[in-house]
Amino acid sequence: MRKPMMAGNWKMNKTVAEATALAKEIVELTSGYTNVDRVICPTFICLSAVKEAVGNAPIGVGAQNCYWEESGAFTGEVAAAMLAGLVEYVIIGHSERRQFFGETDETVNKKIKAALAAGLTPLVCIGESLAQNEAGETQSFVSGQVRGALAGLSGEQVQSLVLAYEPIWAIGTGLAATSQQAGDICGGVVRATVRELHGDAVAEATRVLYGGSTKPGNIAEIMQQPDIDGALIGGAALDAKSYGEMVRITSEVYQK
Ligand code: 13P
Repeated sequence: MRKPMMAGNWKMNKTVAEATALAKEIVELTSGYTNVDRVICPTFICLSAVKEAVGNAPIGVGAQNCYWEESGAFTGEVAAAMLAGLVEYVIIGHSERRQFFGETDETVNKKIKAALAAGLTPLVCIGESLAQNEAGETQSFVSGQVRGALAGLSGEQVQSLVLAYEPIWAIGTGLAATSQQAGDICGGVVRATVRELHGDAVAEATRVLYGGSTKPGNIAEIMQQPDIDGALIGGAALDAKSYGEMVRITSEVYQK
């Protein structure tokens, strides 16, 4: 059985002091729910402080991006290998990075390879725009993104990473996909593409999260979808109580 994951993408929010306080609150509120993997992803400058605030608590810390070269003249970038000593996870290919910072399936693939080589667990984002959704292109586009991201990886590598289906039209809009819609794409497109590439065992072992306007009020329904293994949470992860509540609800859904 795949262990559920509640991952918080804090995006470009929180000062070092605020991030430290939030991490401490999250440790306190979620420590009992050990059947849920908890991961928090602050900005680069907060990683050290958040890691220290988390201490020995079983909460993963992740970056929101990385670069594939190991070092050198790449102003502003941080190498996957540099993150590896500090954190366990890294978000790769978030739609905001694809949209505003020119990331492509090719660069996403290079970053995933670098992250895996460094021993990090990539949280790989895919998802269609509203226009693509309305044009009926969701399946082909999302499947293509999965293929691009996973190109050249072994089955073992694929099942060690986490895929996150985040329809762009659902991100930060308050308009989450229905749990049925989300479950259908996570299973019928994302996991199905992994199955085509690497077979049943790898597809069944690979975790697929949903992201886009998840909150305490809709997480139970989403987590009841058999092909959804967790959430990549934006806005609701910036508040310890709402994030903690989502962890608690997920823990309850998985005890049944
Ligand atoms: P929201 O939960 O704010 O819609 O953001 C989702 C997201 O982009 C997580 O990566």
